[in-house]
Amino acid sequence: MSPQTRKPSAPDPRSGADDALILAPLRGYSGHLFRRLFMRHFGGFDRALAPFIPTVGSRRIPARLLVDLRPENNRHLPVEPQLLGTDPDDFLRMAASLADLGYTRVNWNLGCPFPMVAKKGRGSGMLPHPDRIEAFLASVLPRLPMGLSIKLRLGRREPSEIGHLIPILNRYPLREITLHPRTGVQMYAGTTDLNAFGTCLAAITHPVTYNGDITTPEDVKRLRVRFPAVRSWMIGRGALADPFLPARIKGQPISGDPVAVLRTFHDDLLAAYGRELSGPGHLLDRMKAYWTYFLTGVANGRKVAKQIHRCRSLDRYHRITDAFFDAAAAVNHGAGGNVPAAGGAEPF
Ligand SMILES: Cc1cc2nc3c(=O)[nH]c(=O)nc-3n(C[C@H](O)[C@H](O)[C@H](O)COP(=O)(O)O)c2cc1C
Repeated sequence: MSPQTRKPSAPDPRSGADDALILAPLRGYSGHLFRRLFMRHFGGFDRALAPFIPTVGSRRIPARLLVDLRPENNRHLPVEPQLLGTDPDDFLRMAASLADLGYTRVNWNLGCPFPMVAKKGRGSGMLPHPDRIEAFLASVLPRLPMGLSIKLRLGRREPSEIGHLIPILNRYPLREITLHPRTGVQMYAGTTDLNAFGTCLAAITHPVTYNGDITTPEDVKRLRVRFPAVRSWMIGRGALADPFLPARIKGQPISGDPVAVLRTFHDDLLAAYGRELSGPGHLLDRMKAYWTYFLTGVANGRKVAKQIHRCRSLDRYHRITDAFFDAAAAVNHGAGGNVPAAGGAEPF
């Protein structure tokens, strides 16, 4: 269809208005409490991939492994479960429990870079072994009571490893491939390899989701132009650093004062974990972890992060975070209540 004959109301295929934004799995961060509160205060995501659950060898699956995925904990954002494991029968047993909870899709983690995981041949540790991946898919897929998607990296050690894998992946009916264009040994540092992503995108016949280092709306705009075939974008650390990012990418208005929204989100998260975790030590550890990312790009971030990481009591934690939010609110009001959310030089 030529541009002249296209209906005026037809969406511009490059506007990205229909693109999906997916919350990345961030174990220890993006559990159901975070997902619910994130959507209540910031919105912007269309769906989430849950942090991985390790498959287990026992017949009885411990209930605590499935808490994050219980339907009553996931009313606010559609979520897809993720499993980490290599044994087809263990995987199928766990998938059956997820199907009982109503899930119609499950994701297989082939990207986890942590040496303790990879050394056991799990996560990215499986990427140098396309034969094992093929055997797993051949065994699991005919018996899986739901669709299968995969999240992976370019390789464990070499970005070329995925080249051997793509023809195998193309032979199986996968719902989606999410590709984070780093190797496992890179962990989460160093540059993403966008050339390699482009080569893979051209070779993969399944829908591909891009994941890696999206921290601004401009990043998505640039990536959309470079990879027009990609219609879904997964964001992890960028949304922890700037929780308004997904809504801004979508062009959704931020309602209310950003610092006040962040503070309420923080307070709600603290209260929710306070009810879930046993003891102030665990609560403090959990909240400290978030602040590592919350403060990315903040002017005095290092200083505040150090204070928070050194603090040993909840009282002190409250004093530090209250002072931080008070100062951020003062800066924000000084700027006419218009301080942009994170990524700039001002607090958040
Ligand atoms: C603390 C942390 C926990 C993660 N947990 C998982 C996980 O459970 N499953 C998974 O597939 N990826 C996991 N990842 C990887 C992220 O989903 C994502 O691929 C990575 O952070 C790159 O995306 P980003 O630059 O948008 O953060 C984790 C990453 C981090 C930093």
